[in-house]
Amino acid sequence: MGSQVHGAQHFDKEKRKALHFGENAMIAAQEIVARYPADKKKSAVIPVLHIAQAEFGGWLSPEAMDYVAEFLKIKPVEVFEVASFYSMFNLKPVGKCTLEVCRTSSCWLCGAEDIVKYIEKKLNIKDGETTKDGMFTLKTVECLGSCGTAPMLQCGASFHENLTFEKVDSLIEKYKSEGRQRSYTDLDYQNTL
Ligand code: FES
Repeated sequence: MGSQVHGAQHFDKEKRKALHFGENAMIAAQEIVARYPADKKKSAVIPVLHIAQAEFGGWLSPEAMDYVAEFLKIKPVEVFEVASFYSMFNLKPVGKCTLEVCRTSSCWLCGAEDIVKYIEKKLNIKDGETTKDGMFTLKTVECLGSCGTAPMLQCGASFHENLTFEKVDSLIEKYKSEGRQRSYTDLDYQNTL
């Protein structure tokens, strides 16, 4: 399916064969699928993609999307359509922490552009790029529903609001010292899956 669905992206059959959810991810994905009628498994595609993204290194390769399609018994193109629509899914490798800065009206009016420029300079990357050490990716996104506390950014399951340059400094230091991958399936996000 790879060449058809993912255009230029190479589909590696060997990588695909080796791809499996670990025990915890499998349990979580099965629990989600069980909430829907047997013939409506497609409804679980977004939460299962979140699990796949967290499980397979923070992004959805063609092989990972194919795995999700097989898991849900739907067509790979149906998975791709969803994964390519939402900015929360990454279709190329990203750093352990993706800093998603809201650039929509409230945040823009309250200085989001300056925040983006500050992060770009601090991390020596541009919007959409990843630091050389693989720690951070910077992404600008549309409204994240936290307009009253603009400007804000999201990293994994966490919102960082009323941003200042000092706040940006301390959250980057914190994430760097923890050094782990952040995802939407972090514990505090589980209930909303
Ligand atoms: S405009 Fe930034 S969260 Fe809504």
